[in-house]
Amino acid sequence: MSNASSIRCLITAGPTREFIDPVRFISNPSTGKMGFALAEAALEAGWNVDLVAGPVALEEPDGAILYPVVTAEEMFHQVDALFDACDVLIMTAAVSDFRPVVQHAKKEKKDMASMNIELERTTDILKTMTDRKVHQTVVGFAAETNDVVTYAKEKLLSKNLDFIVANEVGQPGVGFAADTNEVLLIAADGSSVKLGPSTKAAIAKELIQLVTPSA
Ligand code: CTP
Ligand code: CA
Repeated sequence: MSNASSIRCLITAGPTREFIDPVRFISNPSTGKMGFALAEAALEAGWNVDLVAGPVALEEPDGAILYPVVTAEEMFHQVDALFDACDVLIMTAAVSDFRPVVQHAKKEKKDMASMNIELERTTDILKTMTDRKVHQTVVGFAAETNDVVTYAKEKLLSKNLDFIVANEVGQPGVGFAADTNEVLLIAADGSSVKLGPSTKAAIAKELIQLVTPSA
């Protein structure tokens, strides 16, 4: 990888939605801010950026190719189609882990006192990509409320990643929806760097520098 303009980066951002019926879905509080900040930082570094985004209310980064998706399955297929051509995959997306087994075509009426919804696991996009990676640098995010570093290290190993960003969620000023963040970037060799507390833009810039493939 001799110059920045030859680096192609695939970034996923935002939540996914898993529909129960046309008017109800399961999702999570991700807003896509970290992923979009990373896309901006990668563009500033001169990289080519493919940005696969779930439903978010953010302005499209100028210069990125945006691929809007809704469900985890759509995100999987879009990432699957773009992965082989990328040099760096950064999965910031908060992919829904489960989806309803049945998606009703018509709106369900609330004429029952309670409701059980059977859920099934979605595809682990990151794991599926690392199982076939060749030269790619693959970066995951671990969204955790507790034992953040322990769980992040487990995911680094189990998903065969080059880096994982340990990200505490569920507290003000970090994680979902915040404009700021504080994370620990852990590399496969066990080394780690603390980034922030700072704006997501500043953290994104540092992250892009730190995960840049060597020449
Ligand atoms: N991820 C993925 N596909 C999924 C779920 C998660 O690619 N179906 C990715 C996320 O984008 C993130 C990483 O896996 O980069 C870790 O996501 P996280 O939710 O922290 O961990 P999970 O493996 O889903 O496990 P759990 O939610 O139980 O902690
Ligand atoms: Ca998860």
